[in-house]
Amino acid sequence: MSIAKAYEQVREFHKFLFALIEMRDFEEFIVKETGSLAERTEHGQAKEIFGRWNVQSEGHRNACQRMIEKVKEHTSNEWCITCMEDHLRSSYSWKRIVADIVMPKEGSLSVTDLYAVAKNHLAIEGAAEQRYAEMSEMTDDEEMKKMLMSLSKDEKIHHDEARMLMDTLEKTYGDKIRV
Ligand SMILES: [Fe+2]
Repeated sequence: MSIAKAYEQVREFHKFLFALIEMRDFEEFIVKETGSLAERTEHGQAKEIFGRWNVQSEGHRNACQRMIEKVKEHTSNEWCITCMEDHLRSSYSWKRIVADIVMPKEGSLSVTDLYAVAKNHLAIEGAAEQRYAEMSEMTDDEEMKKMLMSLSKDEKIHHDEARMLMDTLEKTYGDKIRV
């Protein structure tokens, strides 16, 4: 194998691995966030949606972790493994995805808060849907491809549910809640 080809392989490998780490940490953040949101709202539909996202995001986090382990197991390049270990210990760019998130202050959520959260998630879940679909193109492993496409599908459902929640709130509270 030429050096250029080997370099390219390592580069591609890193890109995929970092994407998995990023999404694992992103899902971990969403688990905490939705758990807190579900507890802080009395709105039935919102409580149900956040509760379900909480459970599913935990599953997504675990799926990302399993893929990280699989990628690690199938790597024999020592240099790759050393770089990887360093990155596995650091938390980083996932914060970029949730940079604009509005996390209402402590206490129960007002309908305005709820609307802002739903609107945030409309964007976040859409971005996650797109990201997982892109990631399915980064690997030739059929099992991981399938897993990533199924994660993408779940995020599309979350995106649609965020839209449904916004619609309900708009119908119930009208212009009062638009932010
Ligand atoms: Fe989601």
